[in-house]
Amino acid sequence: MSFQLPALPYALDALEPVISADIMSLHYNKHHAGYVNNLNKALEHNAKAEKENDITKMIELQAAIKFNGGGHINHSIFWTNLAPKTSGGGVLPSGALRKAIEDKWQSIDKFIETFNTATGAVQGSGWGWLGFHKETKLLCILTCPNQDPVSMLGYVPLLGIDVWEHAYYLQYKNARPDYLKAIWEVVNWKNVEERYAEAIR
Ligand SMILES: [Fe+2]
Repeated sequence: MSFQLPALPYALDALEPVISADIMSLHYNKHHAGYVNNLNKALEHNAKAEKENDITKMIELQAAIKFNGGGHINHSIFWTNLAPKTSGGGVLPSGALRKAIEDKWQSIDKFIETFNTATGAVQGSGWGWLGFHKETKLLCILTCPNQDPVSMLGYVPLLGIDVWEHAYYLQYKNARPDYLKAIWEVVNWKNVEERYAEAIR
């Protein structure tokens, strides 16, 4: 079993000017590809260790599987959570998701403000998420450090915003709030709605 870098659903320069082609090229071709390669390597070593009943080795490999597997999962969602403005990026139409967000945060603007405050405060590298809690059936804004997937906290991931410096530094330098303000112009709400519809089924 080996994982593969999923195809990017748009061109590397399609999210400009919000996210530059330079950032996208490094982020997708180097960072995400790196997570996939390192995940596959760790899984190969793990399969070998399993065959040899080497539990010590298997425990050692868990950190690499979690980090690179999380990186692969999170970025695979992230690319589909974004869309060029010419393909509907930034537009959240009326529907169940819009209503659920407005019910909880009063308005989409208020939701974005709350999301950006929480995500802007992530220390070091991590992600901000809109997640759906499987037990309470509620939407929630949450943050995760490193590449931890939100499923570890019992949430279904709907929308993730990468705030690792590799996601914005080349273009926005240290101004993470500016990146967070701009990225909503290319959020693929249609994709988020589909994930929400699937989650509440
Ligand atoms: Fe990233």
